[in-house]
Amino acid sequence: MAAWALTCLLLLTGRAFASANAMSTIGSLHAPCLCTFGAVPVPVNVQIPSDPSEGLNTTNLRRLKKTFNIFGEFCQPSGQQLVINGQTTFSYDELGVGLSERPLNSTDIQIPVAASVASSLAAQLKDGTLTSSLGLEKQLFKKVVGIAHSQGSVVFNFIAITQGASTTLDAMILTGHIHDQGFLATFDDPKPLASQVDPARWGNLDSGFITTPNRSSFYSPDTSTFSPDVFMLDGLTKDVSTIWYTRELPSVYVPAKGFTGPVVELVGSMDQLHCLNAVDKNLPCNSTVLQQMEAPFWPDSRNFTALVREGSGHDVNLDFGAAETFALYSSLVEVMTRQISE
Ligand SMILES: *[C@@H]1O[C@H](CO)[C@@H](O)[C@H](O)[C@H]1NC(C)=O
Ligand SMILES: *[C@@H]1O[C@H](CO)[C@@H](O)[C@H](O)[C@H]1NC(C)=O
Ligand SMILES: *[C@@H]1O[C@H](CO)[C@@H](O)[C@H](O)[C@H]1NC(C)=O
Ligand SMILES: *[C@@H]1O[C@H](CO)[C@@H](O)[C@H](O)[C@H]1NC(C)=O
Ligand SMILES: *[C@@H]1O[C@H](CO)[C@@H](O)[C@H](O)[C@H]1NC(C)=O
Repeated sequence: MAAWALTCLLLLTGRAFASANAMSTIGSLHAPCLCTFGAVPVPVNVQIPSDPSEGLNTTNLRRLKKTFNIFGEFCQPSGQQLVINGQTTFSYDELGVGLSERPLNSTDIQIPVAASVASSLAAQLKDGTLTSSLGLEKQLFKKVVGIAHSQGSVVFNFIAITQGASTTLDAMILTGHIHDQGFLATFDDPKPLASQVDPARWGNLDSGFITTPNRSSFYSPDTSTFSPDVFMLDGLTKDVSTIWYTRELPSVYVPAKGFTGPVVELVGSMDQLHCLNAVDKNLPCNSTVLQQMEAPFWPDSRNFTALVREGSGHDVNLDFGAAETFALYSSLVEVMTRQISE
């Protein structure tokens, strides 16, 4: 089959801090779909800090050259959907979590490595390698819109900063992500070691692997806004991250110069990590204030928009307002697709 001039959405699930919520966007956004899942070999070749506790500004670097198996699900609308408003999606588990490969050493899981994985996946959607790896007919996508949450948003933001005009992602929707000083200040607080939180699952992981004690901080303090069942499921399906992401967080608090694609940042007004943290609680998390605060981080974006989901916590996809959030994603994707096709 010839190349299809379509847009593909690259969804980063990043379960460690985000849970599996991006996975569930597929069905809501694009039913009915035909889905194929499997591992995609992703070659990575990046310079990273030898000692990541020094942060990304260190000159003490090593080269990581490996091919990782990244697990993902490729969904394509069937029949008429394709023509009407279908979007193809590829949703994947971050390196080290879910069904993706977990390197033995946590120092192999850093922001530049995750960014290299994401941009390689986007490139593979564009050159047809990805569909071939999944045993499908080769398809080439002209444009890729990245949608990520929280830690995943940090990774996509890093791609925009480091790749600028040559970024393989043409547009970004970043949820659970703003550049507030309060988050920067608290993010480096000690995090529970994965090996101690769940020794049966993670007892053999090194001390760079971290997780959450429970999921409370990802929801609004108002417990009537979400289901206790979802909260429990979220806790049971959580995964790990590494302390190195947190050490490298300052690297995304700089403008993404040269990145021209449209960008949306979306946070919940009751996000305990961002809007309600000790430093920011006096910052009104409304779209006017956040538009002004965040626009300087996207100086060359053709359209940067800050959006706030009123009443939602950090995980904007997991509360009783989720259906509206998904509908919002759909309309954002439509607008962005139009913009990047012009
Ligand atoms: C992980 O890799 C780093 C950097 O190569 C090395 O210094 C460290 O000793 C390794 N840790 C383990 C537990 O093997
Ligand atoms: C979740 O963990 C935090 C920090 O350890 C703790 O303060 C809070 O009480 C816990 N919440 C629940 C519902 O267990
Ligand atoms: C990294 O170095 C640059 C250039 O010297 C500096 O502007 C920036 O603040 C540094 N970042 C961190 C996190 O230290
Ligand atoms: C956001 O908060 C600012 C400062 O309190 C206020 O001036 C502005 O009207 C608010 N905007 C919206 C959209 O609520
Ligand atoms: C900018 O993006 C927002 C969010 O997608 C959209 O609502 C708005 O219409 C766009 N503005 C322009 C001028 O395209």
